[in-house]
Amino acid sequence: MRYDAAPLQGITNYVYRGVHRRLFGGADRYFTPFYSPTKEHLFTPREYRELCPEHNEGVPVVPQILVRNPADFLWAARALRELGYAEINLNLGCPAGTVTAKGKGSGFLAHPQELDAFFDTVYAAMPDLNLSVKTRLGLHQEEEFPTLLEIYNRYPITELIIHPRLQQDFYKGTVRLEAFAQALKGCRMPVCYNGDLVTVDDCDAFCEKFPQIQALMIGRGLIADPALMRKLRGGKGATVEELRTLTQTLYATYCRDFDSRGNAAQRMKETWFYLIHLFENGEQYAKKMRRCASPPEYERLEAEIYRDLTLRSEACGPF
Ligand SMILES: Cc1cc2nc3c(=O)[nH]c(=O)nc-3n(C[C@H](O)[C@H](O)[C@H](O)COP(=O)(O)O)c2cc1C
Repeated sequence: MRYDAAPLQGITNYVYRGVHRRLFGGADRYFTPFYSPTKEHLFTPREYRELCPEHNEGVPVVPQILVRNPADFLWAARALRELGYAEINLNLGCPAGTVTAKGKGSGFLAHPQELDAFFDTVYAAMPDLNLSVKTRLGLHQEEEFPTLLEIYNRYPITELIIHPRLQQDFYKGTVRLEAFAQALKGCRMPVCYNGDLVTVDDCDAFCEKFPQIQALMIGRGLIADPALMRKLRGGKGATVEELRTLTQTLYATYCRDFDSRGNAAQRMKETWFYLIHLFENGEQYAKKMRRCASPPEYERLEAEIYRDLTLRSEACGPF
């Protein structure tokens, strides 16, 4: 079984990927949060910092692109290849209104003909493209998927990562496993499943139900329990020392990269939003963390969490 780390904008950046791999053995592949190329065909310094080889050394990284325009995609795919990336991923899942309004992410699923033309253009220009696609089932109805799959099946997409929700579901409610089972029957390419896997038991139960699936992608569950993949491979759970090293390394590096303790503390709150679920009685600290407004307050709260709370054996979802 392969275990991949899902992209989470604002959380699974290069700092997180590097320290996670070093401390917890890591994922088989880490997908970057989406990178959205613009018409200028340039990396901004912030984008380059995220994708440059120096910051991703020794980490199996798959850069993800969020795009609608084939010319912008091709520029980015070539630029990423020059940076040394063998595989890239296309985001057809992002449900955010600001993204879908531009017909990107899951918004692209509303335009099947254009999507077909997009693949036609990019594979004609780069026949040896190693491209995986991360998709939802559709925007408003599960019945949209067969049309989309017919398109995906027409191209040499190396893997289809399916998050079985609709755009309108955002991340709410339960995943649509029956629709996923239906979808799976028609897929000609290898499929990776993504969605709502939080514990070892969740993964075991999923694999029992879908023994043909060879790859799982885990997002929020891995932030909540950074040792989840190690445990799935038979290893031990996270220790307080490991978690302290993780959060303190992240915070110190964010302070340096953002040149602002305030921004660094805000960013840390996003990781803690999930990580607090690994602590017994973490709920009241989750509330305090959401409210905390200054770096000293953040630093004090983090110290209190490690001092006062014990670890659960599994993270407690849903989030
Ligand atoms: C805060 C946040 C940021 C996300 N950013 C991205 C992203 O940049 N690219 C992407 O494909 N999916 C993104 N996702 C979706 C996740 O990759 C994943 O598909 C989703 O969380 C479901 O998987 P999970 O239940 O294992 O978390 C994001 C989700 C969240 C909650």
